Amino acid sequence: MDVFEAVASRYSCRAFLPTPLPEATVRDIVERAARAPSAGNMQPWRIYAVAGERADALKAQLAPRMNELPKAEGGDYPVFPHPLEEPFRTRRFDVGERLYQSIGVPREDKPARYRQYSRNFEFFGAPVGLFFAVDRTHGAAQWADLGGYLQTVALLARGHGLHTCPQQAWVSWHKTVRAFLSLPDNLMIYSGMALGHADTAAPINSWRAPRVPLDDYASFDGFTR
Ligand SMILES: Cc1cc2nc3c(=O)[nH]c(=O)nc-3n(C[C@H](O)[C@H](O)[C@H](O)COP(=O)(O)O)c2cc1C
Repeated sequence: MDVFEAVASRYSCRAFLPTPLPEATVRDIVERAARAPSAGNMQPWRIYAVAGERADALKAQLAPRMNELPKAEGGDYPVFPHPLEEPFRTRRFDVGERLYQSIGVPREDKPARYRQYSRNFEFFGAPVGLFFAVDRTHGAAQWADLGGYLQTVALLARGHGLHTCPQQAWVSWHKTVRAFLSLPDNLMIYSGMALGHADTAAPINSWRAPRVPLDDYASFDGFTR
């Protein structure tokens, strides 16, 4: 798979097959992804990978607490600005609509929406969960570096025929995740990620989030045609 195909075929996969992944594959992805650039080569990412009984133990801790959603443990940092201004508000709303439409959940059926949302905390059935942690003293530049690292993981996963879903939803369980991973005080969870083989037959994987046209977000000056 070349880089164009890896980028084009990546999407946020929300239903996985239970097929386990060898530790060597996950190590390979996490290690190669560290070729991602970072300001001053700080390499500010810290990765925690869980699988098998370990992942099951985390899921089991949270399963009885899904009635606490959506607030859960309140979040260690605000994932979205409040209020969310246009055009971002509409884009966020639209992608949510598409997601729930794909599984036949109407907007007003809140319990069904929360049921689907709670699948985040089962890694959507994936055999591997990744957590990306960042140092509390680090700022916007290091967080951006983590984003680049996360996307590199997602693309390398495609190279192995695997799929991913980044999961900031885990931030809402930051206390439980912190205790579970024995996270040092200086680190905080930036995002989780589900990793595994896609269930390509699942309706929730059947749609793709749209993108705004190029000229809406980019300008090009001084080029010769
Ligand atoms: C850092 C980050 C965190 C995300 N967190 C979640 C999440 O918790 N749950 C989820 O279902 N999708 C999550 N997403 C996926 C976004 O909704 C998705 O990237 C966006 O809608 C574009 O769709 P695509 O990734 O399929 O192209 C996250 C994406 C990013 C980059």
